[in-house]
Formats: sequence, structure tokens, C-alpha cells
Amino acid sequence: TKQTGLTALDYGFVNTASTRSEITYIDGDEGILRYRGYPIEQLAKGSTFLEVAYLLIYGELPTEEEYLAFENRITRHTLLHEDIKHLFDALPFSAHPMSVLSSAVAALATYYEDSLDVHDPEAVEINTIRLLAKLPVIAAYAHKKSVGQAFLYPDNSLSFVDNFLKLNFGNFAEPYEVDPVLSRALDRLLILHADHEQNASTSTVRLVGSTDANLYASISAGISALYGPLHGGANEAVLNMLAQIRDSGEGVQRFVQKVKNKEDGVKLMGFGHRVYKSYDPRAKLVKESADEVLAALGVDDPLLEIAVELEQAALNDEYFQARRLYPNVDFYTGIIYKAMGFPTRMFTPLFAIGRLPGWIAQWREQNADPKSKIGRPQQLYTGATEREYPNGREFS
Ligand code: SDX
Repeated sequence: TKQTGLTALDYGFVNTASTRSEITYIDGDEGILRYRGYPIEQLAKGSTFLEVAYLLIYGELPTEEEYLAFENRITRHTLLHEDIKHLFDALPFSAHPMSVLSSAVAALATYYEDSLDVHDPEAVEINTIRLLAKLPVIAAYAHKKSVGQAFLYPDNSLSFVDNFLKLNFGNFAEPYEVDPVLSRALDRLLILHADHEQNASTSTVRLVGSTDANLYASISAGISALYGPLHGGANEAVLNMLAQIRDSGEGVQRFVQKVKNKEDGVKLMGFGHRVYKSYDPRAKLVKESADEVLAALGVDDPLLEIAVELEQAALNDEYFQARRLYPNVDFYTGIIYKAMGFPTRMFTPLFAIGRLPGWIAQWREQNADPKSKIGRPQQLYTGATEREYPNGREFS
């Protein structure tokens, strides 16, 4: 520092205590992602979101009996307290669903004041189940609020994902049949989002949880962190970017040039990653799904063609190659969500529903560690050295 005036911060190194965890393993160079040791490709192909949630939270794949009991407990907790619906009345119909989610999740805690003790295993368990069951319902209500439709009640004869689809797309005027293509595709997308090591929102959940704040407060904070367009909000930003390229008529090449020139700070949303310096393994799986889902639904979305052209242009461009920028999980997901019928602003809440078991698993892992301490990220002070306050200083 004395010679150059530069500090570790200038090189992007911030000395934070590394977090020890047994939940998720990522190799950013090799594009490897494993939940509790199981490769994401195998889980996406053969598992279900609820089974993956169980694996992340309890550490092992469930027996059939354990799975059915877990699924049944979640099903039995999908109802929201009738009073919390009034929260939605207080919000404008234009409220962003991520604001609704973080507010409603924090408010949920007020209904369970008798079971918030973070050191009571039974309380931690029941709040795990309540959140897994109720977050999708809150998200569906935020969707219904935004389109001016009545809230439906959960239908406990349906599976977790089918119940969620019906809450979003069903209505009182006509029967709703779940499309198995949508159901399977959404279940797989939720698996792909379920955990991702110490990303910004998970680190937020752990930091808030480290103060012994209750699980609802910690998850609400995680939802707020995920909201940002550099993180989970990117899936919504990608769709807006693709639509802007389509509507501007400028074309992909001109957009890529704007990104390279860093015009107006524009970024290639859905590209780049703090850890993956190779193709995000989830993005590969999402792209496969996009082709399948759009074909099965008979949707011919010009935005998908723009996305594919944009991806090819970037992957073959030295600027992105030199910076090791590849598509991440957010690049193609919005295309699928849009084909399913979700409004763009519901994309990040879908990310939150997928990430919830990971947040809970990470919070519980830290909470159960007797050696765990309150979080206190270190800093490197680069401000003024000591100086004297002027005597007799006065303003006229
Ligand atoms: C998620 O951490 C996780 O695991 C997150 C996540 C999860 O599952 O939880 O994977 C989910 O958040 C994925 C990321 C979604 N965000 C986006 O798609 C937004 C667009 N991406 C970027 O903003 C960016 O890539 C970040 C925020 C993701 C990473 O930022 P970094 O770490 O600052 O990127 P970098 O250090 O690799 O950047 C190196 C260079 C810089 O240029 P130079 O200063 O060297 O000229 O690449 C540039 C950056 O400006 N760059 C981009 C870019 N990403 C990095 N340039 C244009 N477009 C981009 N997307």
C-alpha cells in the first residue's frame, strides 16, 4: 500500500471469514453444482422439488414414508391466516410482488409469536413447514392482486406444484386443469434454484439469522436481497432487455456493442457470475427445458430467438470470452415463465420459491452450530488518518 497506494480492496479481495457448509458444492471453473453431493443434472432429471427440499434441509434423501409425511405436513399448512389477507388490501395493485413477499413473510411471524424461539427444535421445524407451504400461496396472491382477480384457496388434493399453478391460473368461474408439461417444467426449474452456496441472498439469510432473529425475519431479508437485478431480479431484467432489443429495432449486434462500450452502464443481463467462470450448469438445463416447454405449449416466442442469437453473439465475442462471461441461471428462465403465463414481475418470486429450501437449510445449519457466532464482516479501513477537530469552531 505504501508504494502503490493500492489496497487489497482495489484487487477485489475483501477478507471475510469463509463460511463452512455441508449443503452445496460449486466448482466455478468446471461448472459443477451438487446438492449434498448429488449432481444437479441427476436431481433435475430424476427428483422432485419437494424431495430436493427435504435433501437440502435434512441432509439425506427421504425414504418413501419420510417423503409422504413431509409432503403431507406441507399440504396441511398451505392455508394463510384470514387476517393476513388484509395486508394485500393495504398495498397498491401495482405493488411489485417481491415487495409483497418480503412484507408478508416478515408479517407471518406475528401470527406465530408462541413458536419463534430459534433454539427450540420443534419451533424451527414447524416454521420450516409453514414457510415452505405458505410462500407459494403468498406469491400466488401477489399475482392475483396484480391482475385484479380473487384469491383462491389452496386445493390440498393437488401436488405442491399443481396447487401453486392452480392458485395462479385458476379462477372461480371455471374449472382449471393443470397441464402436466407446465407442472414438470416448473418442478424442474424450482429444483435448479433450490440452493447455491453463499450467494448474496443466502449470505443475507445467514447474517440476519446469526443475530438470533427468527426464521421469518431472516427469510424476509433474503427475499429483499434476491430482489436486486444483479441477483435474482436478473430473470425479470433479462426479459425486459430482450423486449427492449426487439422493440428498439437496433438488433443484437448493436446491443452487444453498447454493452462492450459500457454505454449508459448497460449490461448483458443473465450473463456473468461471481463464481461460474464457465457455463452455469443450471443455464444448460434451463435452455433444454425452454426448447421442450415452448414446443409442447406450441409457443413461438420471438424473444427466444433473440436470446439464442444474443447468447451466440456473446459466446463468440472476445470481450466476453476474455472476461469469462457465460449465461447464468437467469438467462433463459424468463422465457419459460413467460410461456407458462406468468407476468414478468412474477419471475423473481418464482426464484424465491425455488430458493426457499436452500435458505432454510443454510439458516438451520448455522443455527444448529454451537460454535456459530454473530456475523461481523471485516473491513479494510481506507479513510482519513487521525486529525484534530479545530478549536472554537463556530458557524455564524
Ligand atoms: C444470480 O452468487 C450466486 O450464486 C448468484 C446466483 C444464485 O443462484 O444465487 O447464481 C443467481 O444472481 C446470477 C447472476 C444474475 N445477475 C445477472 O445476470 C446480472 C448481470 N450480471 C452481472 O451484473 C455480473 O456478471 C454479476 C453481478 C453477476 C457478477 O459481477 P462481477 O463479479 O462484478 O463480474 P466480474 O467481476 O466477472 O466482471 C468482470 C468484467 C467487468 O468488466 P471490466 O471492468 O473488466 O471491463 O466483466 C464485466 C464487468 O463490468 N461484466 C459484464 C457483465 N458481468 C460482468 N459486462 C456486461 N454484462 C455483464 N452481465
